[in-house]
Amino acid sequence: MRVLVAGVDELPARLAYDVWRLRQEVFVVEQDCPYPDLDGRDLEAGTRHVVLLDEGDEVVGTLRVLEDGDALRIGRVVVAATARGRGLAALMMDEAIALCADRAVRLAAQAPLADFYAAWGFEVAGPEFDEDGIRHVPMRRAGREQARPQP
Ligand SMILES: CC(C)(COP(=O)(O)OP(=O)(O)OC[C@H]1O[C@@H](n2cnc3c(N)ncnc32)[C@H](O)[C@@H]1OP(=O)(O)O)[C@@H](O)C(=O)NCCC(=O)NCCS
Repeated sequence: MRVLVAGVDELPARLAYDVWRLRQEVFVVEQDCPYPDLDGRDLEAGTRHVVLLDEGDEVVGTLRVLEDGDALRIGRVVVAATARGRGLAALMMDEAIALCADRAVRLAAQAPLADFYAAWGFEVAGPEFDEDGIRHVPMRRAGREQARPQP
């Protein structure tokens, strides 16, 4: 397994196609949720795509890190159904958290996964809400302020 990190213009076209196909297979088809997965944010200059590739360079997982101004946002976290339960999402989350460095990070967790994200320091930051028929909970990971020089 290896993890690739790239902006949209650095993603080879076929790899980008496989990333978006995986998201469609899981978030739209498997989770039976018609929603606009291709929302335009994949193309933003500040977006980083984190892609997990197997030994044959097939896409087995992906997530994206978005620039939201006052914080970064991790989303679209997914591992192919055939590859789940082996801790592979952690490889992508470790990379995403490294990308976020000292910045504050937000995400909307599918409610049963709040404990999963807590392993990276995320805390529930508000009440549960419904998005496209799926229960979510807002979570936040505090940034670390730059040490200020002492007077
Ligand atoms: C969430 C996901 C990325 C985890 O990937 P993974 O590589 O299988 O991660 P792990 O092997 O570390 O397993 C994560 C844990 O979450 C649990 N989990 C995953 N989906 C779950 C769900 N819908 N409800 C309850 N628990 C769930 C797994 O059972 C596992 O629990 P365990 O550690 O106690 O065994 C993967 O299950 C997935 O792609 N799910 C569908 C897409 C999705 O819902 N993404 C999250 C959007 S917020």
